[in-house]
Amino acid sequence: NDMLSWQRTSFHFQPQENWMNDPNGPLFHMGWYHLFYQYNPDSAIWGNITWGHAISRDLINWLHLPFAMQPDQWYDINGVWTGSATILPDGKIVMLYTGDTDDLVQVQNLAYPANLSDPLLLNWIKYPDNPVMFPPPGIGSTDFRDPTTAWIGPDGKWRLTIGSKVNKTGISLMYRTTDFISYELLDEILHAVPGTGMWECVDFYPVSVTEANGLDTSVNGPGVKHVLKSSLDDDKHDYYALGTYDPIKDKWTPDNPELDVGIGLRLDYGKYYASKTFYDQDKKRRLLWGWIGETDSETTDLLKGWASVQSIPRTVVFDKKTGTNILQWPIKEVESLRSGSYEIDDVELKPGSLVPLKISSAAQLDIVASFEVDEEAFKGTFEADASYNCTASTGVDGSSKTYFCADQSRSSTASDVGKGVYGSDVPVLHGEKLSMRLLVDHSIVESFAQGGRTVITSRVYPTRAIYSAARVFLFNNATGVSVTASVKAWQMASANLKPFPFDQL
Ligand code: FRU
Repeated sequence: NDMLSWQRTSFHFQPQENWMNDPNGPLFHMGWYHLFYQYNPDSAIWGNITWGHAISRDLINWLHLPFAMQPDQWYDINGVWTGSATILPDGKIVMLYTGDTDDLVQVQNLAYPANLSDPLLLNWIKYPDNPVMFPPPGIGSTDFRDPTTAWIGPDGKWRLTIGSKVNKTGISLMYRTTDFISYELLDEILHAVPGTGMWECVDFYPVSVTEANGLDTSVNGPGVKHVLKSSLDDDKHDYYALGTYDPIKDKWTPDNPELDVGIGLRLDYGKYYASKTFYDQDKKRRLLWGWIGETDSETTDLLKGWASVQSIPRTVVFDKKTGTNILQWPIKEVESLRSGSYEIDDVELKPGSLVPLKISSAAQLDIVASFEVDEEAFKGTFEADASYNCTASTGVDGSSKTYFCADQSRSSTASDVGKGVYGSDVPVLHGEKLSMRLLVDHSIVESFAQGGRTVITSRVYPTRAIYSAARVFLFNNATGVSVTASVKAWQMASANLKPFPFDQL
C-alpha cells in the first residue's frame, strides 16, 4: 500500500478520488482557467459520468469546485459526456456537450453559466428544450458525440464539427448555427478517412505558420493552417494532421494525404487520449489538455481509489523548421514548481556506460537533456536495444531516422501493468543536437523530443524504485558509438489542489 500511495501524482491535475476521463470545455474567464472533466463520483471505474469542475490562476494549482453538471435529465441520464466551450464576441459562454439519453441515444445538449459575472461559474443551466441535435439520418444513434468549440465563417454564421463514422470510415459532420439552438447539418462533411472507425473528441483549430502566438478558433486566411485531430475509438490514440480549411466549402484538406488523420502523426505515442485544445485569450496561446489513463488493472485502481490524471497543459504551435508537424511544449507555468537543480555538462558516455546522477529523489522532476553523437562513428550501423519502433535504420536513400522511445519493460515487478516500449521517429534537422525534456511525477513520465516534435507519455508503476530508491541514470547501450550528454534537472514541488469549500480565493 506504501507502493500504491507513492504512485499518486503530485503536480498533475486530478480529482481527490475516483475515476476521471476526458478534459471538457476548458476556458479562461475573469482571471480564472476553468477545467471540466468526465468524472465518476462513485467509483474508480468509468460510469455515472458527471462534469467535475476546477479552477486555477496558473493551470498548475487548482481549486476543486462542486460538479458543474450531473446526469439528471432524460437526455443525459446515462452520462453528461464530452463537450466544448465557445466564448461569443459579447463574452457569453456556450457549452455544448453530448448526452447519453434514457434510450442510450447520443444527442447534443446546450448549457450556459447561470451568472456570467461569477468568476467561478459555479452554476450551470441546461437549456430547457434540450437536446439541440439528434443523430441525423444515416448516422448510428451511438456514433454521434463530442461537439467541438464553434468558430465563425465568412457568412457570419457559427460552425462546429462532430465526429462519427459510416461503416469503417471515420468522419466529421459539419453543422451551422446562428443561435446555438437550431442547427443546420451541412450536406458536405469536414473530412473522412476510410478504415479509421469512430472519431471521438474531434478537435479543429488554426495555427499560424508565421507567428509564434496561438490563434483564436475563428481565425483563418493566408499564413494559417488548420489542425484536425481525432481520437480513434478503435485503437485509443489521438491522431492529427495539418491541412487547409476552406471556409466557403467547409472542407479540410490534408497537406500530405499519406499522413492523413488516423493514419499519420499521433499527438502522443504513449498513454494519452481524448485531448482538447482551447485558445487562451489572456496569454494569446493555444493550450492542449489530454487524458492520461492508467495502464494497471481495474482491481488495482479500485484499491488505489483513483484512476487517471490530466497532462500538464501544453502549448501548441506549428513547427516552422520542419513544416510538417506541430510542437507541443509544457506550459511555462509548470516551471514555477522547479526548485534545487542539478547540472552535468558534456559528459562522455562510452558504449555500455552507466552514470548515476546525484539527484536525491526521482519522484518529481523536470529534466532537460541534450545528446551529441560522433557523426563519423555513426555512419553505417545504428543500434538500440528496444525492438518496437526503436531500432534506428538507414533508409534506402541513405537518409537516417532518429527514434525516440520510452521503454517500460523494466519499470515494475508487477505483472498486471503495461510494460511495452512506446516510440516513434523524430525529425532531427542538420545542426541540431538530439534534445529532450522529461516531466516525471511518480507514476507519470511525459517526454518531449526536439522541442516537442514527438511526444510520449507513459504510466509507470515501480515496485522497487520508489521513495529514496527512485534514482536517475544516464546510460549508453550502444556497442560502438560514444555519446556526449548534458543534463539539467530540477526537483519539482507539489502543486496545490484544494478541496471545496476553501476559505478564500
Ligand atoms: C472519449 C469518450 C467520449 C465520450 C466520453 C464518455 O474517451 O468515450 O467519446 O463523450 O468519453 O465518458
